[in-house]
Order: sequence, then C-alpha cells, then structure tokens
Amino acid sequence: MYRDTTCGELRTGDAGKSVTLAGWVQRVRKMGGMTFIDLRDRYGITQIVFSDDNNAELASDASHLGREYVIQVHGTVAERQSKNPKLPTGDIEVIADSLKILNRSEIPPFTIEEDTDGGDDLRMKYRYMDLRRPNLRRNLELRHRMAFEIRRYLDANGFLEIETPILVKSTPEGARDFIVPSRMNPGEFYALPQSPQLFKQLLMVSGYDRYFQIAKCFRDEDLRADRQPEFTQIDCEMSFVEQEDVIDMFEGLVKHIFKYVKGIDFTEPFPRMTWQDAMEKYGSDKPDLRFGMEFNDLTDLAKGHGFPVADGSELVVGIAVPGCAGYSRKQTDELIDFVKRPQVGASGLMWVKYEADGKVKSSVGKFYSDDDLKAWGERAGAKEGDLLLVMAGDAMKTRKQLCELRLEMGNRLGIRDKNVFAPLWVIDFPLFEWDEETQRYYAMHHPFTSPNPEDIPLLHSDTGKVRATAYDIVVNGTELGGGSIRIHDAKLQDTMFELLGFTPERAREQFGFLMNAFKYGAPPHGGLALGFDRFVSILAGLDSIRDVIAFPKNNSGRDVMNESPSPIDPAQLDELQLELCPKSEK
Ligand code: AMO
Repeated sequence: MYRDTTCGELRTGDAGKSVTLAGWVQRVRKMGGMTFIDLRDRYGITQIVFSDDNNAELASDASHLGREYVIQVHGTVAERQSKNPKLPTGDIEVIADSLKILNRSEIPPFTIEEDTDGGDDLRMKYRYMDLRRPNLRRNLELRHRMAFEIRRYLDANGFLEIETPILVKSTPEGARDFIVPSRMNPGEFYALPQSPQLFKQLLMVSGYDRYFQIAKCFRDEDLRADRQPEFTQIDCEMSFVEQEDVIDMFEGLVKHIFKYVKGIDFTEPFPRMTWQDAMEKYGSDKPDLRFGMEFNDLTDLAKGHGFPVADGSELVVGIAVPGCAGYSRKQTDELIDFVKRPQVGASGLMWVKYEADGKVKSSVGKFYSDDDLKAWGERAGAKEGDLLLVMAGDAMKTRKQLCELRLEMGNRLGIRDKNVFAPLWVIDFPLFEWDEETQRYYAMHHPFTSPNPEDIPLLHSDTGKVRATAYDIVVNGTELGGGSIRIHDAKLQDTMFELLGFTPERAREQFGFLMNAFKYGAPPHGGLALGFDRFVSILAGLDSIRDVIAFPKNNSGRDVMNESPSPIDPAQLDELQLELCPKSEK
C-alpha cells in the first residue's frame, strides 16, 4: 500500500499517530529552517512539515519539490501551533521523517486552485489537470451521488435498467444525427441515438413495464451553455399509465434527489402551468419562477393614441420592474441597447417611471397622458418607485423578446438566486409546430406523442390547435426534462405521420419496425427523459453543463485535449469505401 491515510481525514485526535500519505504537491513554502508542503489528493489537503533540525537532508530534498510532483511521505501527526480554520485538516500537520518521489511533473500550465489562473481553452487542453481542482471534483462527486440516488429511487419503484444500442438507424425527426459508416455494409450508415425513444417504446411492447437508463445521447446541433453534442439522459418509460401517473412518479424522483442530495424537502406538489399560460405570462415554455415580473397585456390601453408603433402592433406587453423608477437615462438606454442586440432582435423598448412623488415619466409621454400611463401601471401592478418596461410587435416574437428582458432584469436585480429552486410542470403543449420556411408542420415533441384525446377531432380540421399529452419539467428557467404519453394505436400513428408530411412508404421505411411492433399488442405507455447534465448543473448552481462533464466538448464541438474530430487515415476511408470530396462552392 502506498498510503494508509488520505489527505482529508486527519484531525487533532490523531496527534501522535504514525501515518503514510501519498498525493500531489500543491505548494512548497520555505520558512527559515522549515519546509512546508501542502499535499493534495481527492479527499483534501494536509500540511507536511520538514525541518532542518530533524533531518536537514530531507528538508533540503523537500524544498526542491516542484508543483504537482507525486510523493509519498511518512511521518507523525502533530497539533499545529498556528491553525488554519479554512481547511478541515487545518488543526494538524504531519512531521515528516521520510519522503519518496513517486513521479515528477513538468511545471503545470495553470494553478490547481479553486479559482485558477488558467483560461478556458488551456484548462480544456489539460482537462486531466483541470479535474484536479476541488470545484470540478465536487461537481463530479455530486454527479455520482445523484446517479446513485436516481438508481435507488427507480429501483425501489420497480424500474429495470436496460441498455439500448448506440449504433442505430438514422431517423429524420428532431436534431441532426451523427452518422457512423458501416465497414461490413459499404454505402450504409448507422446513426448515434438522439435518445433511446423508439427502443424504450419497443421495450413496453415487450412487456418490461418500467424501464430506465442513464443513457448517452448524441445530437449534432448548435451548442449553448446547456447543450453538448453528447449528453446524458435519465430516460424512463412506463406502461399502463396516464399523464398524471408519469408526472407523479417523476416529480417523486426530482423531490427524492433534492431531499437526499441537497437536503431540500419540497412538501407541496410542483406548480403546473399550461403552455399557453407560460407563453402569455412569461414569454417562454420554460419560465423562471424564482421571481415575478409577469407579463401584462396593454394592447387595448396602448392602441388608438396616435403612437404608430403601438397602433401597428399585434401585441403591446409590459413588465413592472420593482424599485427601478430611479433608473438614469444611461441605464434605460442600456436596456434599449440590450433588446436591440441581435440575440434579442427587438426594434425598441418603451419605459414608464412611476416616481415616489406620484410623478410619471416616460419615453412615450408625447403620445400618452399621465392618466393613460397610470392606467398602464395599474394594469401591470406597478407601484410608486417601479419601472414599467413595454414592448410591442408581433405577439409571439414580442413575448420572446420581453422574456429575454425579464431575465436580464432578474439578473440585474440579483433575484435569480442559485440557492433557490423553483420547479414547475408545463403541460398542454401544442402537438404541432408550423414552420414557415418549409411550409409544413413539425412535431413539437416527437412524432410518437399522443394528441390530447379531446382534440383528436381537430387533427385534420384545426391541426395547429391540437394539444399534445406532453409535459416538461422546468427548474429555474431551464428545461430539465420532457416527455409524453405515446400513441399506441397503429392507425393514429399513421395519421400522425401523414400530418407530418410522410408518405406511407417513407413512414414505413423510417419507422416500419415500430409500426410493425404496434400490431402485436402495444400497451398504453408514456414516459419522460430528464437531462442528467442539466440536473447536476442546476443542483451545483452552475450556468454551464460543461463543468459537470468530465471530458466535455467546446462550443465548436471539439475536444481540444485529444484534438477530435480529426482527419482519418486514407486506409480507414478505403476500408469504409468512402471518398472525401472537396466542399463544393455554393
Ligand atoms: P428531449 O429532446 O426533450 O426529449 O430531451 C430530454 C431532455 O434532455 C436534455 N437535453 C440535452 N442536454 C444537454 N445537451 C443537449 N444537447 C440536450 N438535448 C436535450 C434536456 C431535455 O429536457 N425521447 C424524449 C423524451 C421522452 O419523450 O421520453 C427526448 O429526448 O434536459
């Protein structure tokens, strides 16, 4: 054994013990005849002392150790004279009597500290060293803890963990597939699964009525802070269930995790909001409910006063921002610049200040009297001291833009507290989404989602109005997971494919195996998938899921450590019967 003690466990009660530790040199300090080493491993940091008085040669060796050297030390635990309250082991030190260098290290490219001096790219290139930092280590420990608790909860509820293939058939819906050429079947390709959706439905047909998998999924889509090309889902499916059963089971899972991992007990049911309400009140299907600032429709009050922007708009909508009536012109201009950024894309912003003395000031005072603007304030619940921010235009676009502004105001006011968790279910999503560019409907969730039974008569007559039996779970403005009750009737599934623009031949070609399976006794079933990386990052209070993944990709989908993707050997291409052609000029 290289060690009998870790660097995180010694306390005053261990004084006098003889111990052997092994780990990495975090820091070397020389003070007079003493050399102090901070020795680090996964469990913590322990101070090791080498003194000239004890053994001058050893102390000299220790003073020449470099950062990140791997060493083994034997010594005796002693209570420290000057204690370090910041370290759990800060009351003791180990007086060394032997030192062995197990391995040397080149000078590391950045410091292995909580707040390192290494930039993003550098840390990604040397990810194995970045992972030595305590904050990343804590994130991975949290991830492990959560995976463990997820399995405990699902096992206790009768779920079986079943793996599904990674080499699958490419299907046209959803995001873009990653494609894998088949050597044994030249000219043919597998895809990597965007999710195990079809397999879990097939498992229901097979009678495994409670399935789960902590599953790797792959999507070739544009990346953001909460998206990676390969990510992990807690993927689940159940038979003989309705929406309520699925929501109940997985609300239970989310509560279990909060309770046993975070010590937070949600005793009330999570709130529910229809998709329609979420869009109208927050401009988003994933509203952040940690704070208010709900939208207020001001269209009827704003129109008809000779203000062309309002008169020409489908919707005029505002939010009351508490305590911001004192905003300076510079600050309101900043907000106008914010909404005009291409990411938000608005053409402008109106503001009204309800000052403490009852005075009203506004950017649109030319068109509206104080009484008009007070009526806006009343509608929006703006009190004295508040700032009303108003946007106008096409309804859907304006809501989305105001949603961005609402979140920005939440950030500015510091009310998006990472230690507060506001979960909710968003239900009653539309089944279809119309795409102007391709002039066709797309499935908002996926093509296997069942319509709300009440809306089945509308499938052909008012397709856009049909609600899905689909639900998302949202926490703090992030879509944590989503699912639906599936279609288990082959005829209804045919109708769905038809409405999505598939010819019967193409539907059979793509999904024939599922449709066939449905002919042999498919039970009613439904499920959901939670984004595991997102779940961990929410609990860790992080903005990016990268910090909860051991080896993530950067925003261009690259692993800068192993330099992938990379060209492959011409012999490999030959074997696959593939030829690269230069990118054609458009
Ligand atoms: P959906 O596509 O909504 O549903 O995905 C479920 C959850 O997976 C997470 N997620 C991602 N996380 C990181 N990076 C990504 N690129 C990424 N894409 C999705 C999100 C999301 O809520 N088969 C269905 C589920 C079902 O119907 O049962 C599905 O995949 O947290």
